[in-house]
Amino acid sequence: MAVRTVARIRKAVITAAGWGTRFLPVTKSQPKEMLPLLNKPLIQYSVEEAAACGVDLVVIITSLGKRAMEDYFDRSFELEQMLERQGKTELLDEIRRLSSLADICYVRQKEQLGLGHAVLTAKNVVGDEPFILFLPDDIFEHGELVLKQMLAIHERHRSSVISVREVAEEEVSRYGIIKAKKVAERVYEVQDLVEKPKVGEAPSRLAIMGRYVLRPEIFAAIESTPPGRNGEIQITDALKRLGQKQPIYAYEFDGELYDAGTLLGWLKTTVALGLKDPVIGSELRDYLGDQLRD
Ligand code: G1P
Repeated sequence: MAVRTVARIRKAVITAAGWGTRFLPVTKSQPKEMLPLLNKPLIQYSVEEAAACGVDLVVIITSLGKRAMEDYFDRSFELEQMLERQGKTELLDEIRRLSSLADICYVRQKEQLGLGHAVLTAKNVVGDEPFILFLPDDIFEHGELVLKQMLAIHERHRSSVISVREVAEEEVSRYGIIKAKKVAERVYEVQDLVEKPKVGEAPSRLAIMGRYVLRPEIFAAIESTPPGRNGEIQITDALKRLGQKQPIYAYEFDGELYDAGTLLGWLKTTVALGLKDPVIGSELRDYLGDQLRD
């Protein structure tokens, strides 16, 4: 029997260059991506997901003032020695694991011209191969599983695949929305895409969420995409252009999605993850119950 070789996706791009204005002033001297969700910074969820999918190079798009991320994923010999001396082996293992999750390189987006533009800065590092794009504010409950489904669709169709989820009518204006034809259980062929349409003008309620498997032709599509919504170069508009040349698929994923990109969303994510945590979960539940009763 012939064994079908599955082309592995080797690179992931994580966008982390935004100003984090929704979190000011805390993001004045600290990257938003380093805000904690329990005891891990937000960006670690994406890096771990990429590593779990077998990616060996993670390209993080950064900007001024984001150096804390580089230190975080680097080794810290002083800290390791201290933990070793104190016999804190579990912590030591965790700290060492962090710096060996994947090879990480950092590319600076020198001007904040939009999400599409941020992705384009990774062009030379990614080269002519498909890659996974992570928007790290979106925390998927079953991120690894969702991506593995998307990678399987990519493999079958040799096409770009975006993650989507149905949202309420009044929420469509917060997302990229697709018009699509269902081709299999949870799988759609994308016919059109609109970035943040007005309520009442959206072609559907299927909203794009922060995981994409992209073919390298996306870079040329971004290069020819003019500024769109908010005067920014949008990845959604570039995908629309790409879709005029080659098919694009969407995968409607299952499971929770937490949006840690706003103050309330970040707080909700923290509480949701805290409630699931085996160490603090039940005490947090009691505490929240007490607070709500008072
Ligand atoms: C970005 C994309 C949008 C997508 C969203 C998912 O918007 O432009 O198409 O639906 O992420 O979180 P942002 O949240 O950066 O405004």
